[in-house]
Amino acid sequence: MEIKNLLVTGGCGFIGSNFIRFILRCDDFSGRVINVDKLTYAGNPENLAGIEETYPGRYLFRRVDICDAEALERIFSEYEIDAVCHFAAESHVDRSIRRPESFIQTNIVGTFNLLEAAKKAGKDFKLFHHISTDEVYGSLGPTGFFTEETPYRPNSPYSASKAASDHLVRAYHETYGLPTTISNCSNNYGPYQFPEKLIPLMILNAWEGKPLPVYGDGKNVRDWLYVEDHCEAIWTIMKYGKRGETYNIGGNCERENIAIVKLICDLLDERFPSPEGSSRRHLITFVPDRPGHDRRYAIDFTKLKKELGWSPRESFESGLRKTIDWYIENRAWTERVRRGEYKAWIKEHYC
Ligand code: NAD
Ligand code: TYD
Repeated sequence: MEIKNLLVTGGCGFIGSNFIRFILRCDDFSGRVINVDKLTYAGNPENLAGIEETYPGRYLFRRVDICDAEALERIFSEYEIDAVCHFAAESHVDRSIRRPESFIQTNIVGTFNLLEAAKKAGKDFKLFHHISTDEVYGSLGPTGFFTEETPYRPNSPYSASKAASDHLVRAYHETYGLPTTISNCSNNYGPYQFPEKLIPLMILNAWEGKPLPVYGDGKNVRDWLYVEDHCEAIWTIMKYGKRGETYNIGGNCERENIAIVKLICDLLDERFPSPEGSSRRHLITFVPDRPGHDRRYAIDFTKLKKELGWSPRESFESGLRKTIDWYIENRAWTERVRRGEYKAWIKEHYC
């Protein structure tokens, strides 16, 4: 499969920007990336600073809302899009609990618009790859794993909207023969993650001596996947995955939230002992639980491993060390993101 014009949606977000950097580095991709992103609070063009200069003629950005069907169709015809890698979404569970509307619009209606545009692209269209989450499967007890056969039981407005989008993608394959693949991955971490999610929030708060808010008893379990490993898995599925199929992607790395927060404190203490010599663990503050908080996620990625030969490379401790270093070394980025300063830049360039 030779992709000439790959449409990446949500490429200014956390995973999308890592993926664009990854794919443009790959020897087996020589095409062009067209990144469409609405630039919500989570979308930051600075995540791709320098990319146009590093890969002249191979990257371009358009500020587009995937809820705007006409704008999407114009992008498809103007740039002769022959494949899609769809990341754009509202992605934060806590926000979906407070204000679910944009989750329904972007995650469901936006995905529908993209599928329609891809369907109209005709016979030269090669692949629609949809990025989804393990949260569509609901919550596990202390044992067992999510497989591709696990029934969908989403518990938050976020996971329900992602589940709906997965069903639409599947239906477009079954009904119209659209060449699709879907991946359901576990929690990602790494550079450029918006600091509202557990790991970057805890790194920055611990660094600044602020409270570390742990929901409930802190014993909820997530399966952590380093973002670079995730990008490699996506590209593997895009190249070799069977059309119409779903693949689970996991990090082989289950941890209780409290264990992660303690490890972040310890790694920071080791590298940057606090002036008083006390452990940053004293910053841990248990706060009321998230409503409908899923207890445990754990992914069985045997299908991806056996059929396509992918496994994660990064260990949790080495990935976390790299991530902590990145956040500490990129204080200017985190400051601008947290103050929303990049929004002024967006206004100047795109409004
Ligand atoms: P993110 O919130 O960091 O980025 C989302 C991007 O989508 C942003 O750049 C935002 O501006 C853009 N966007 C939002 N609404 C849009 C719209 N209407 N039109 C165009 N662009 C829009 O999210 P992320 O963590 O990078 O997640 C990317 C994808 O991966 C999502 O589909 C998410 O559901 C999925 N996922 C994420 C994780 C994780 O741990 N982060 C885990 C499993 C699955
Ligand atoms: P999060 O990063 O929001 O990802 P998701 O909800 O998609 O899994 O949260 C990861 C886990 O950390 C989840 O169990 C909720 C918990 N959490 C906290 O305990 N405190 C926090 O401040 C945040 C943001 C999350």
